[in-house]
Amino acid sequence: MCGIVGYVGNRAAVPILLQGLKTLEYRGYDSAGLAVIEDEVVKIIRSQGKIAVLEDLVGERLSEATCGIGHTRWATHGRPSDLNSHPHTDCRGEIAMVHNGIIENYLELKEFLSDKGHEFTSETDTEVLPHLVEHYYQDNLLAAVSRAIKDLRGSYATVAVCNKEPNKLVAARKDTPLIIGIGDDEYFFASDITALLEHTRKIIVMDDGEVACLTPEGYQIYRDMQPIKKEITTVTWDAESAKKGGYKHFMLKEIHEQPWALQQTLKGRIADDRSGVRLPEFSLDKIQLQRIEKVTIVACGTSYHAGLIGKYAMEKILRLPVEVDIASEFRYRDPLIDKKTLMLVISQSGETADTLAALREAKRRGAHVVAITNVLGSTISREAHDVIYTWAGPEIAVASTKAYTTQLAALYLLTMYLAEKLGRMKANELQALIEDFYRIPEKIDEIFASCEEQIKNIAEKNLKSDDAFFVGRSMDYAVALEGSLKLKEISYIHAEAYAAGELKHGTLALIVEGVPVLALCTQRALIEKTISNIKEIKARDAHIIGLCYEGMKEVPQVVDDTIFLPDTNDLFAPILAVTPLQLLAYYAACARGCDVDQPRNLAKSVTVE
Ligand code: M6R
Repeated sequence: MCGIVGYVGNRAAVPILLQGLKTLEYRGYDSAGLAVIEDEVVKIIRSQGKIAVLEDLVGERLSEATCGIGHTRWATHGRPSDLNSHPHTDCRGEIAMVHNGIIENYLELKEFLSDKGHEFTSETDTEVLPHLVEHYYQDNLLAAVSRAIKDLRGSYATVAVCNKEPNKLVAARKDTPLIIGIGDDEYFFASDITALLEHTRKIIVMDDGEVACLTPEGYQIYRDMQPIKKEITTVTWDAESAKKGGYKHFMLKEIHEQPWALQQTLKGRIADDRSGVRLPEFSLDKIQLQRIEKVTIVACGTSYHAGLIGKYAMEKILRLPVEVDIASEFRYRDPLIDKKTLMLVISQSGETADTLAALREAKRRGAHVVAITNVLGSTISREAHDVIYTWAGPEIAVASTKAYTTQLAALYLLTMYLAEKLGRMKANELQALIEDFYRIPEKIDEIFASCEEQIKNIAEKNLKSDDAFFVGRSMDYAVALEGSLKLKEISYIHAEAYAAGELKHGTLALIVEGVPVLALCTQRALIEKTISNIKEIKARDAHIIGLCYEGMKEVPQVVDDTIFLPDTNDLFAPILAVTPLQLLAYYAACARGCDVDQPRNLAKSVTVE
């Protein structure tokens, strides 16, 4: 979704803004713009299209400016166009603002401001902001922004500049992330940490209702115009981790980073002798845990698919009922949760609006909420009772890969931790399970070494059709859902996932000669049933690509291509099985010439409902 960068200091602002916007490109956008103050005039350049277009428009101009704001827009109100691009200005062009989020009462405000003589030039909700600030402005930008936000309904991270106060940025936040970066005599605003890593690792995460003012001399944060003190956090990510590091795409880099990322998730959480799992971040004690009657998992997209795997693992091992819900549906079904519910919210970004809303609803109803997230200081991490960080490093490609596998790892860790606490497994069984789990990262490396070339060939030869199907049973079905999402998201091939036994209840009508079908066969207890379903598909002449363990003899006999996975406990097979599916999607998208890292219409961080 939209991205914001702001800079004030002693260096030229424009290159810093452009570089910051480029770092935020991964969030998804359709237009870009910036405003700087030069010679006490607000100068704006903005355009529909990529940042490269903006860069060309800027050229060598505006090189003197040391204070400015930049924005990438992902259209919500009004189509992508030059006029709808941010920054927007007041009537006199003296105040410029950028905004992420949605001003829900913008029509009401527009009417109020129009009656007072303000003129609007765009279709956006954002444009009411500079006009509202203009309405309240009396030589004090901080006071005007602080007053204006009282009139807003909706969500916003917004930053303002004003030519009458040329070395100053003023920002406000509600329900949309905004971070302050602390440098030496220079300060930054950004939508996320990655945009700041080239300059500083010292950050302050703004909270809802706060207004911040940055000048080259320092920063101050306010609540209701009263100065407040906030803790500075030092992030561990470095600038290199947000670069491609020699890979053609971020997605391929992130797929290959999975063994490392999983080791980060496991680090310090598994006892040296594998006898148990340590999760000091989980705050419920044994007595509180024994009162829990069910687990509810809520998430969106790929994180939701991780939740489905969590359900299978937890129900099998803990014998506790587990519900998994799509966050955008959860709140509206009057969910049956209370203080006996353990609620897990899963979100890579920690900012997904629907997941955040579900978290708040669950807290309101008394559930104990544990977040599984990758982003330190994200809103979800700060609002949950407990946080299990996945420590996967920044994920830049829109298609989630290492975030998903590390979410799975966090869910397995939690399951094994709870199994021990609730006495659901014998010590030797738990130790054997943890031992298997501990070896998963090296097994992903084995997949890269043994199958990547084969997967590339399969993708190039067999994923040419406009449709593809993914089938599997039990956990394989949940992985099939993720494999199909990956494929459709980046290659634009229409892909569907089905529980293998369900196909003949309708979808089999779509199986025709040559259509690619990915058949997942990692759940040994169900293998005979899955093979019967594969035969039903084969009888309709589909091209079947099977995924099974090395040494499984039956599967290669009934499929056209077989991708072999290293043997493991079936419980952990999803982490291994998804890797070839990620690679298949990646190579299919490359073969079709798609924009792998920034697929059309999608955004990395979905901060609107
Ligand atoms: O940041 P989150 O994990 O909350 O994001 C949820 C989904 O938007 C996300 O997983 C999305 O489905 C991915 N782009 C899929 O690859």
